[in-house]
Amino acid sequence: MKIVVIGTNHAGIATANTLLEQYPGHEIVMIDRNSNMSYLGCGTAIWVGRQIEKPDELFYAKAEDFEAKGVKILTETEVSEIDFANKKVYAKTKSDDEIIEAYDKLVLATGSRPIIPNLPGKDLKGIHFLKLFQEGQAIDAEFTKEKVKRIAVIGAGYIGTEIAEAAKRRGKEVLLFDAENTSLASYYDEEFAKGMDENLAQHGIELHFGELAKEFKANEEGYVSQIVTNKATYDVDLVINCIGFTANSALASDKLATFKNGAIKVDKHQQSSDPDVYAVGDVATIYSNALQDFTYIALASNAVRSGIVAGHNIGGKELESVGVQGSNGISIFGYNMTSTGLSVKAAKKLGLEVSFSDFEDKQKAWFLHENNDSVKIRIVYETNSRRIIGAQLASKSEIIAGNINMFSLAIQEKKTIDELALLDLFFLPHFNSPYNYMTVAALNAK
Ligand SMILES: Cc1cc2nc3c(=O)[nH]c(=O)nc-3n(C[C@H](O)[C@H](O)[C@H](O)COP(=O)(O)OP(=O)(O)OC[C@H]3O[C@@H](n4cnc5c(N)ncnc54)[C@H](O)[C@@H]3O)c2cc1C
Ligand SMILES: NC(=O)c1ccc[n+]([C@@H]2O[C@H](COP(=O)([O-])OP(=O)(O)OC[C@H]3O[C@@H](n4cnc5c(N)ncnc54)[C@H](O)[C@@H]3O)[C@@H](O)[C@H]2O)c1
Repeated sequence: MKIVVIGTNHAGIATANTLLEQYPGHEIVMIDRNSNMSYLGCGTAIWVGRQIEKPDELFYAKAEDFEAKGVKILTETEVSEIDFANKKVYAKTKSDDEIIEAYDKLVLATGSRPIIPNLPGKDLKGIHFLKLFQEGQAIDAEFTKEKVKRIAVIGAGYIGTEIAEAAKRRGKEVLLFDAENTSLASYYDEEFAKGMDENLAQHGIELHFGELAKEFKANEEGYVSQIVTNKATYDVDLVINCIGFTANSALASDKLATFKNGAIKVDKHQQSSDPDVYAVGDVATIYSNALQDFTYIALASNAVRSGIVAGHNIGGKELESVGVQGSNGISIFGYNMTSTGLSVKAAKKLGLEVSFSDFEDKQKAWFLHENNDSVKIRIVYETNSRRIIGAQLASKSEIIAGNINMFSLAIQEKKTIDELALLDLFFLPHFNSPYNYMTVAALNAK
């Protein structure tokens, strides 16, 4: 069987690796328009903020490794068209050579691109986006310039908050804008996001929430020099737009069934409306166990898992995805937040009737007075069924990073808040208390 994979980042690589490791003997062709593969954008802010010196280790796979396993890899080759009826992929190399690859099974792993705000001045020099390695390099190069002093970041979601921290670490003045009233509003309820807002403000980041950019203005050299919002005008030297992703589905959007945001609709086998075409990662929908429906959640973790699922199904072993919770986390100037499933705000927006239980305690046993940070927890559950549908944790303690995964499993397995209340959680003073905050939050649920 011949399998063509378009896109050689996390989702495409996971599909190819699964096929190569578990179902050898197939002909595999991988095509990507970029010159690199496997870039972990997740590390961009850590590198640009100089918490690590170089970006080299943010790549975990090389074209040569796949070639050594018999894969044909075409980089700097852009797919321009797919003939789904005759099962052919049309592409062009950097030197404009035409490539035609026939397939038995096609994997769309074309990912996503940042959303471009449709505002006057959006194409000015000095306005950046952050997804590709090259985009990280461009921002890094700007940060080295003495004259680039004031950075405006638009969108205080995950990318915006992380790159705002990186800019501050590089000694810049940072203005962080978001249409919502807090940072991280898509992931956390206001009571939690406020903790991150205080942390950002304490580290000198100027917060402009509930404020919408209306226009970008240029200086005489054509570089962005001002942002006009619905509230004021600000002088800036650089703009980084981080207002979310849109699926890179143009190759298939008029031929395959798509979701309301344009992502390719897939089933739990990652199969699209064309049974010979699979879609994985940021280009595709994904099943949310919190929502009990398909939705769009762009995460590297989902890209890897959906790629593995597609690899098995293409290879010949039927495997249904267990779905995801959209579990996520962020660490800014040592303040950590993790969440899974839906916040109260997100659940209500989706029409669910939910309740929540909050609790706050020290992470370790009360008699340990050093390095014992406070932890805030919120568990969100459906009011009638009492099914857990979300959790949020915030602390300087890194231990919360592990705890959120238990809630992820609870949501996947449709556990109720009452089942969680008496769950056997280990106790060791170095790590927690006998009245664990997760237990107490669950017991407190009315
Ligand atoms: C700054 C940043 C930080 C992030 N941090 C995290 C994190 O901490 N945790 C997390 O889970 N997620 C994180 N993400 C999200 C994560 O990077 C994405 O969810 C992930 O990259 C999706 O992987 P993918 O393989 O589906 O798509 P992509 O990474 O978008 O890759 C798609 C590939 O397809 C190629 N392609 C597209 N169209 C064509 C075409 N027509 N022809 C040929 N090739 C094509 C592209 O060149 C690209 O290489 C972060 C993202 C960014 C930008
Ligand atoms: N730590 C992580 O897990 C991590 C890190 C980075 C990125 N990611 C993922 O990558 C994807 C893209 O990240 P992102 O930060 O671009 O998206 P995001 O959805 O996390 O945040 C986008 C933010 O932009 C705001 N916004 C939208 N339109 C706006 C406008 N016109 N003006 C001002 N603000 C506006 C939204 O309110 C939101 O807070 C997400 O799926 C994210 O989860 C994850």
